[in-house]
Amino acid sequence: MYETITVEHRGKIAIVTINRPDKLNALSSKVHIEGVAALDELRHDDSVRVVIITGSGEKAFIAGADISEFEGQTPVTQRNSFHERSLFNTIDVFPKPVIAMINGFCLGGGNELAMACDIRIASENARFSQPEINLGIMCGGGGTQRLTRLIGEGRAMEMALTGDMIDAATAHRFGLVNHVHPSDQLEAETMKLAEKIAEKAPIALQLSKEAVKFASRSNLDEGLRREVDLFAICFSTEDKKEGVSAFLEKRKPEFKGK
Ligand code: COA
Repeated sequence: MYETITVEHRGKIAIVTINRPDKLNALSSKVHIEGVAALDELRHDDSVRVVIITGSGEKAFIAGADISEFEGQTPVTQRNSFHERSLFNTIDVFPKPVIAMINGFCLGGGNELAMACDIRIASENARFSQPEINLGIMCGGGGTQRLTRLIGEGRAMEMALTGDMIDAATAHRFGLVNHVHPSDQLEAETMKLAEKIAEKAPIALQLSKEAVKFASRSNLDEGLRREVDLFAICFSTEDKKEGVSAFLEKRKPEFKGK
């Protein structure tokens, strides 16, 4: 159905794979368009509770924007690449948790896409960089903003100014990725985490994601106010009744997303 991505359903998990292995899964404009379309479908599919995004093959997660498309770009087209319906922003505000399963090179727009996700799990062979500076340009998809919020100004500055790659262990130490696993265990470990999250109450997951994301965009008073408003909404859900009853009855809750 799609040319540049595949979508696979495994129980409550959907796995979106960028499928251009011969180009190290570089983000062409078609990947952006198809990625947004796929997420739109998954957004409305109640059977899907968690989305995993990964790259095909063992070499790369995503080696950045498709550089071959840069030639036809103008300042205006590039400026318009930032919009509410862009792939990065679609992931950022997607109402379900999105996990980046990083199976190799995670560069430029690939790292920016990973950072738009909620959790990042990497294989030991993963490598990370913002190499735009080597092309005479700079990051344009969150590489200076999300990276700084995730790993701090000094580290983000060094990555943006040198374009140097860091390995998975360094990315883990910096807080850029949540966990690192041997390559042959990456998928199983990521699925394990996704399945754990998929058992939680979907509305509480959505509101928790919104609240955590809001923390880096607000001051503490605004953030605490937003959090308590979202917390209050949880008290209107059937899943809150189910969660509390299940605890009191010493059984496992069955959350329905209502
Ligand atoms: N855009 C378009 N094509 C890309 C690409 C990108 N970002 N990254 C890799 N490719 C293509 C290569 O052109 C090559 O295609 P070809 O076989 O038709 O020549 C293919 O993917 C394999 O890449 P190659 O460079 O041969 O692999 P390598 O193992 O020697 O090097 C990298 C791997 C990741 C170090 C190298 O591909 C690279 O530096 N890519 C660009 C990364 C980048 O600057 N991204 C940010 C863009 S803003």
